[in-house]
Amino acid sequence: MTELISGKDISKQIKNEVQQEVARLKTQGLTPGLATILVGEDEASKVYIGQKTKTCEQLGIASFHHKLPIQATETELLNLVNKLNHDPKVHGILCQLPLPPHLNADKILLAISPDKDVDGFHLLNMGKLLSKKNMKEIEAEGMYLPCTPHGIIELLKRTKTPMSGAEAVVVGRSNIVGKPVALLLMAENATVTICHSGTRNLPEVVRRADILIAAIGKPKFITAEMVKPGAVVIDVGVNRLPEGLCGDVDFESVKAKAKAITPVPGGVGPMTIAMLMVNTLKAAKKLNGIN
Ligand code: GUN
Repeated sequence: MTELISGKDISKQIKNEVQQEVARLKTQGLTPGLATILVGEDEASKVYIGQKTKTCEQLGIASFHHKLPIQATETELLNLVNKLNHDPKVHGILCQLPLPPHLNADKILLAISPDKDVDGFHLLNMGKLLSKKNMKEIEAEGMYLPCTPHGIIELLKRTKTPMSGAEAVVVGRSNIVGKPVALLLMAENATVTICHSGTRNLPEVVRRADILIAAIGKPKFITAEMVKPGAVVIDVGVNRLPEGLCGDVDFESVKAKAKAITPVPGGVGPMTIAMLMVNTLKAAKKLNGIN
């Protein structure tokens, strides 16, 4: 029987852990706080931001939402980031992507204090991840890991999926998912291959995977013939089709072949939010010198 990996259930466990720790910090007079920034009216972004602020409330984390109009200037956005960098009630800052095209996302992400970069998108945090060899070094450094890749690793760990020595294939090379998840899998001692639109014989390469991470942003791109029997399949895709949400994996056909698979929705998505809460808690502690 194929195991359905429920990100919904696993994220609940993680959120419970965060909630307890937040309650403990509050008895010491510290309330972790997350500031979110949304520029414009992107419908998907509004949904994501709504989920993030709602989860903060559920866990006792203070949330400070800032909504800017689509015509906001770079200076306005940079001024807001700067204000939040200096606000002692704000421990984490998240600027929802994508930004409207007239705003330079790289510049905005670089302006967020690396100590408040709970998305793990600042070049300093990305560079730290790149420079560490294994999980022990990553944990010792104490930087923020990007939420989706970190959530994927937690899914694998909490389902006791062996990573050391496993063949892991990542389909997609984005800065937000593909590249960082490849680094984390390597830090877990997996043998990692990254595939992308330029990969020759992609189905053949993907068939090597014991662990398959689909993060290419194309609906139902991964079909059953690309999957090795017994593989663990993690679907990062969130594609909005007229008939509803679907992942990057053709769930129905792949399910029959995989040992375990994440559904969409209810797989990786809830984990991203849970790891954002983990990072916000970590930021509150770090900025207040608490271990
Ligand atoms: N857009 C899609 N995923 C993310 C994310 O994890 N963080 C931010 N800030 N924007 C996103």
